[in-house]
Amino acid sequence: MHTEIVLLPDEMPRKWYNIIPDLPEQLPPPKDPERGESRLDFLPKVLIGECLKQEMSQERWIDIPEGVLQLYEQAGRPRQLFRARRLEEYLKTPARLYYKAEFYSPTGSHKVNTALAQAYYAREAGYERLTTETGAGQWGTALAYASRLCDLDLTIYWVRAVHNWKKDRRALMRMYGADVYASPSDHTEFGKTLLKEDPNHDGSLGIAISEGLEDAAGDDTAAYSLGSVLNHVLMHQTIIGLETKKQFELVDEYPDIVISCLGGGSNFGGFAIPFYHDLLIEKKDIRFIAAQSEAAPNLQGEYRYDFADHAEMTPLLKMYTLGHQVKMVPIRGDGLRYHGCSPILSLLRHKGLLDTIAYPPDEKYVFEKAQLFVQKEGFLPAPESAYSICCAIDEALECKRKNEEKVIAFNISGHGLLDMEGYEAVLKF
Ligand SMILES: Cc1ncc(COP(=O)(O)O)c(C=O)c1O
Repeated sequence: MHTEIVLLPDEMPRKWYNIIPDLPEQLPPPKDPERGESRLDFLPKVLIGECLKQEMSQERWIDIPEGVLQLYEQAGRPRQLFRARRLEEYLKTPARLYYKAEFYSPTGSHKVNTALAQAYYAREAGYERLTTETGAGQWGTALAYASRLCDLDLTIYWVRAVHNWKKDRRALMRMYGADVYASPSDHTEFGKTLLKEDPNHDGSLGIAISEGLEDAAGDDTAAYSLGSVLNHVLMHQTIIGLETKKQFELVDEYPDIVISCLGGGSNFGGFAIPFYHDLLIEKKDIRFIAAQSEAAPNLQGEYRYDFADHAEMTPLLKMYTLGHQVKMVPIRGDGLRYHGCSPILSLLRHKGLLDTIAYPPDEKYVFEKAQLFVQKEGFLPAPESAYSICCAIDEALECKRKNEEKVIAFNISGHGLLDMEGYEAVLKF
């Protein structure tokens, strides 16, 4: 039995999977608030046309353009699936653990899968610049890389609490030629208002999204690119789960439990949605678990319409939310600190098809599991991905207690090579 399961470039899936027509009920559409200007009319002014088209598409399979396939190959796709044999042996579990290696990406995470698609479509549409938000910084770096490959300028609004400690990642974004601002920033009117209240404001993803939207709205040559939550973003990410399914076929295995960390939902969605296809259509028995932080347990919030950003510039989305202006303490896995969850995954949760676990915000429990993973498997996960690992280990130990021989699949969405300060601060070495 092999430890590393690989696909050749020719075996890379050539279509993304759009789950919308297969959902157990119709996805509640975005809508306008009762008062104020139409947010729905605002979207085409700031979003890339092709992405907006995909957002509402009822087509089940959407061709990945040849240009994007080439970019995926350039970025190292397909990526390996590994069997975590050394970890299994250490845990003495009857479970079989498999992890997908999204950390093998030029910028360090799964975020390149939609960054490359969005930058490609933006260039095709004639834009010269993109604007965006970033939390962990992985999305900002991925879009900086994709924008450079597609000859676009990029302005990044980066949640201040993270911007201030991830100096090397900021330098990497600048290596690619992006402009980077700590958010809230004095580069937008909304940012200035918040800075007046608190010059050291920690920021949040919701605030950074508002700043990026305001910036794009004021420049006809610019479009806004979002790194998570929206349907088209999750669809671009399905390349992860589609590859993983092919890899499981190669070793004649199939997961009983599918696990990943979840902030806005792009990583979890990209990995899990192709397996949800099998659950919904082929009635396969699969358990899905999203790993989160108690600092932002959005899947334990309310299922209702809410804004996706702090300044209420977006339409209302039906999702699990903690409230778009809620205060959440910063954590080292700050990419998980977002108030709402993607509408697609929220609907699946509402239907009882998505379990969630939230770990304590001091992150000690989670990072100790990441350290165990490093010592057994050798790869250093991003702080966010440490949550996937932690949940997979907990489930493997549960299998040991019950003597159950389950197959557990999890995605390691990014590497933590630029995040050591976070691990050091929590694990105190
Ligand atoms: C490595 C990594 N994994 C996961 C996430 C969580 O975001 P999402 O739920 O959109 O994948 C982030 C967000 O920044 C991230 O950087």
